[in-house]
Amino acid sequence: KDAAGKDPSAPAALEPWKVGAYLSLSGAETQFGIETKEGIELAVFEVNKKGGAKGRPVKVLYEDNKSNPQETNNKVLQLVTRDKVVALLGEVASSRSTIGGIVANKHKVPMITSSATAPEVTQIGPFVFRVCFTDDIQGQMGAEFVVKTMGKKRIGMLFASDDVYSSGLASQFREAAKKLGGEIVVEKSFIKTETNFTTYINEIRDAKPDLVYAPIYYNAMVPIARQAKAAGLPGSTFVGGDGWDAETLLVDAGEEMEGAYFTNHYAPDVPWPHAQAFLKAYKERFKRDPSSLASLGYDSAMLLFDAMGRAKGDTPEAIRDAIAETRDFQGATGTITIDPSRNADKSIVIVQIKNKKFTYFATVNDKAAA
Ligand code: PHE
Repeated sequence: KDAAGKDPSAPAALEPWKVGAYLSLSGAETQFGIETKEGIELAVFEVNKKGGAKGRPVKVLYEDNKSNPQETNNKVLQLVTRDKVVALLGEVASSRSTIGGIVANKHKVPMITSSATAPEVTQIGPFVFRVCFTDDIQGQMGAEFVVKTMGKKRIGMLFASDDVYSSGLASQFREAAKKLGGEIVVEKSFIKTETNFTTYINEIRDAKPDLVYAPIYYNAMVPIARQAKAAGLPGSTFVGGDGWDAETLLVDAGEEMEGAYFTNHYAPDVPWPHAQAFLKAYKERFKRDPSSLASLGYDSAMLLFDAMGRAKGDTPEAIRDAIAETRDFQGATGTITIDPSRNADKSIVIVQIKNKKFTYFATVNDKAAA
């Protein structure tokens, strides 16, 4: 050993891979960002325990975009130009993934969004991927559940007109529901800064729909559920999409939302065998059940590290090609195959809110069965 206590004949420690993660770690959608980060952290821990990718440890640099579009642009540029990351993980929301995706694609750095479901995101270009399903399938499955499974034909809708996820999922659902014989009897939209929804709720209630499709985020659903209850419209009248998946919804409006259904990526009690190992590891580390955000964050990172290990070189381009070649990757949220449009065709879970818990109800668009 030399003076520094190192063995000079030992091989030099390999440089860690630098991966950037840009997330909403503060601001409106904080909970989405924090849970995604936890999933990524668990993946980093597991890959490094196994010696990293191609024998090199993985280091993730986290940046907080404050749930803000301009900050998203700045932080992704920083990660790419200043930190020279080989790949990017993020964002959680479709609106900010679109901004980050444009920067990533322009600088030819591969990006994997864990949970942005709007079709537009991966259409940006060849460097933008996702590990979740897309909203055209989510909207279709939501409509089938409402019209066919629940047998509800008179449908109301409530969504955010200035959010690409919310308005996009609303139109996918609307189209599918109409084709299945549903009728949209009332439709209201708001902008993200609004907090008082009473006028919309009253108009919706007065149109007497069988149910109301509300593809919005948890932070809007909480006041809506409370104001709806006060107006005599029970929370179980609402059906939502994956944007509802946050503990806050249960804590702040779980009672109001009792019985309501939504389409999602995952549920803590999902009966898929591949989800169980992740569930156990996550619970051990964070002492609570993972959300879909956590499990998708984990899958996005694990799939990326797997691609880094398989890549024919160490460059962002080589990693991009390896991500594109991913077939039958066994993730916590199911088997993931990256298709030619850089999307993942996945199973969708119907979740019901029961006793202030997200409870597994059914699997639709079932890909895990194979
Ligand atoms: N799918 C949402 C979007 O694209 C984000 C989201 C995913 C929210 C999963 C909650 C759970 O904006």
